[in-house]
Amino acid sequence: MEPPATLDQLVADASARIAASPSLGDLRGVEGELLGRGSTIADARAGLRDLGPDERRTMGRLVNQATAVVTEAITARRIELEREETAARLAGDAVDVTLPGRSMVPGTLHVIRQVMDEIVDIFVSLGYTVATGPEAETDWYNFTALNFKPDHPARAETDTLYLDYGDTAEGVLLRTHTSPMQARYMEQHQPPVHLVVPGRVFRRDPLDPTHSPVFHQIEGLAVDSDITFADLKGTLTHFAREFLGPDLTTKFLPHYFPFTEPSAEMHVLYRGAWLELLGCGMVHPAVFEHVGYEPKQVTGFAFGMGADRMAMVRHGVTDIRHLFDPDLRILMQYR
Ligand code: PHE
Repeated sequence: MEPPATLDQLVADASARIAASPSLGDLRGVEGELLGRGSTIADARAGLRDLGPDERRTMGRLVNQATAVVTEAITARRIELEREETAARLAGDAVDVTLPGRSMVPGTLHVIRQVMDEIVDIFVSLGYTVATGPEAETDWYNFTALNFKPDHPARAETDTLYLDYGDTAEGVLLRTHTSPMQARYMEQHQPPVHLVVPGRVFRRDPLDPTHSPVFHQIEGLAVDSDITFADLKGTLTHFAREFLGPDLTTKFLPHYFPFTEPSAEMHVLYRGAWLELLGCGMVHPAVFEHVGYEPKQVTGFAFGMGADRMAMVRHGVTDIRHLFDPDLRILMQYR
C-alpha cells in the first residue's frame, strides 16, 4: 500500500502534467494515465480491500480526495484548451481588414450609347417622344410603306440582309434604317407627332474604316397641320448647335429619298471642314396615305442620322471599327 505522502506527491505531479498538456488530445492521454486502469490511483483504490476497517476508511478518503482533485484539474484544463482552440480557429478565419483592397474599374456606357442618349435628350427637351421598333422588320414597313418602288436597288440581296422565315407572304429582313418606325408610329397615333427613334440597323456592307454591317441611327419625325421646311431647318440647326457648338454653320443640299420630298442632306462646318451630318426632308404624301393619314390635312418633316458617325465626330475617331473593338484599352479612350 502506498503511503499518503506518495499520493500527495502524485497529485502534485499530476496537476503539473495536466496544466502542461498542450492540446485536448494530449490531455485525454494524460487522463488515462492518471485515472485509468493500472494508474497509481486505480491501484490504490483496488488495494483498499486488503486493509483493515480503520485504515481502509482513512485511505479511502485520501484516494477519493486525490481522484477529485485530479478530475477537477483535468476538467479545468479541458475548458481552457477548448476556449483556446476556438479562439485559434476564429483567428484563422478572420478577415484582415488592414489589407489593401482590390480596386474596381468603374464601368461606363459605350460611347455610341452615350452619344445616342445625348442626341435623344436634345429632342426630348423640345417635346419629342421616344419610341423603339423591331430589328427584324417586314418588307412593307422597311420599304413599301416608305414609297420604295419594287425595283429599288436598296431591296437587292446585295444591300439588305434577308431572314429566312420559310413561306411567309412577304419578306422579313434586318431593318436597313430606323425609318420603318415612322410608318409604325403614325399607324398607331394621330397627329401631332413629335418622335425620335434610336436603334440598331443592318446593311450588307463589308467592315472597313467607314462602314459596318451593324450600325446605329436616330430617326426623327414631326407631323402636324402646317409644318414647313423652315421648321425642319430651324429644328435641325438647333440640334446641331446643341450637339457640336453654339456658333455652328449648317447648309442643306438637295438629295433624294423615296419617303421625303423635297429631300436634303444637312452639312455642318465643324473644325474648318464641311461634314455631312444627316439626311432629311418633308414627309412624302404617299407615306401619309400608307399609314391612313389624309395627305391634304397634314405636313411633316423627317430626318435620320448615324449615331456611330456622330460618336466619331464627337470623339475624333477615324476608324469605325475602333467603336466595335472589344479591347477596353481602346474603348476607354472615348469617355
Ligand atoms: N433613312 C435614311 C437613311 O437611312 C435617312 C433619312 C431618314 C432620310 C428620314 C430622310 C428622312 O439613309
